[in-house]
Amino acid sequence: MNSSDPYAATDRLDASLLQVIVTRLEARGKHPLFDRMLRDYLDAMQIDTSQSVLDLGCGTGVAARAIARCSAFSGRVLGIDISSALVQAAAQLAEEEGLGDRTEFQTGDSRKLDFADGSFDAVVAHTLLSHIDDPLAVVREAVRLARPGGMIGIFDGDYASLTFGHADAVQGKAYDEAIINGVVTSPRVMRQMPRLFRAAGLQLVASFPYVLAEVGKADFWVPAIESFRRLLPKSGVMTESEAENWAESIFRDSSDGVFFGASNYYGYVARRP
Ligand SMILES: C[S@@+](CC[C@H](N)C(=O)[O-])C[C@H]1O[C@@H](n2cnc3c(N)ncnc32)[C@H](O)[C@@H]1O
Repeated sequence: MNSSDPYAATDRLDASLLQVIVTRLEARGKHPLFDRMLRDYLDAMQIDTSQSVLDLGCGTGVAARAIARCSAFSGRVLGIDISSALVQAAAQLAEEEGLGDRTEFQTGDSRKLDFADGSFDAVVAHTLLSHIDDPLAVVREAVRLARPGGMIGIFDGDYASLTFGHADAVQGKAYDEAIINGVVTSPRVMRQMPRLFRAAGLQLVASFPYVLAEVGKADFWVPAIESFRRLLPKSGVMTESEAENWAESIFRDSSDGVFFGASNYYGYVARRP
């Protein structure tokens, strides 16, 4: 556990760090590999057939907009985030994309929301749980808010596996540990999901494992590294100059064709009995 994870404190970040997060979430959301992982579990949930979807920890609304954009989708998506600034950004991006009539965004804490039991056909949490200190509370809330028979989709990085290559392996391991401690709260939560589903009374329907690895040149990982460069000093796990040196060494590796960056990701789909 780590209380310095900036993603767990987005309701208290200054505007410049929030902009770092907006840029990173939007860049990641547009990457084809990330989009594919999102689509896989949304398809397994048959999200097109839902009339009401709740997107917990919606950030800038990457998942909410992806759902609202589905041609067969005729329902509405409600995105909830702890940060009012991100909620505002999500509403604006949805409006700009012509999705304002199918989406709505509100501030709220995914561990405890005010909606009535069974209010939604489907609930998703896209890269939220790794930033929560009590993930079971969010899973239980998702179960409470889904109607009986409703689908729940949970996706996140298995960030305990996040790693970047480095010329000095010992130094590289220390950097990996600092990054994981600095930007994630529950790095092993995806390994706990089958147990959390069981504890919350959910039936596991499908699981989707991925290794998002890039070798030689960085592409998907570029915006992540750019954001870590700014967020890690905020977390207190690196000084500004350490974070600069780390990011510069990684980008040098990429231009020299010796970059290595990887993390596992998992999508899970469960049904409320
Ligand atoms: C890594 S971002 C993911 C955003 C978005 N789902 C995406 O994948 O692009 C995690 C989000 O969870 C939000 N968050 C963190 N703790 C939360 C909580 N307790 N309740 C609601 N949102 C929370 C953060 O503000 C942030 O927007």
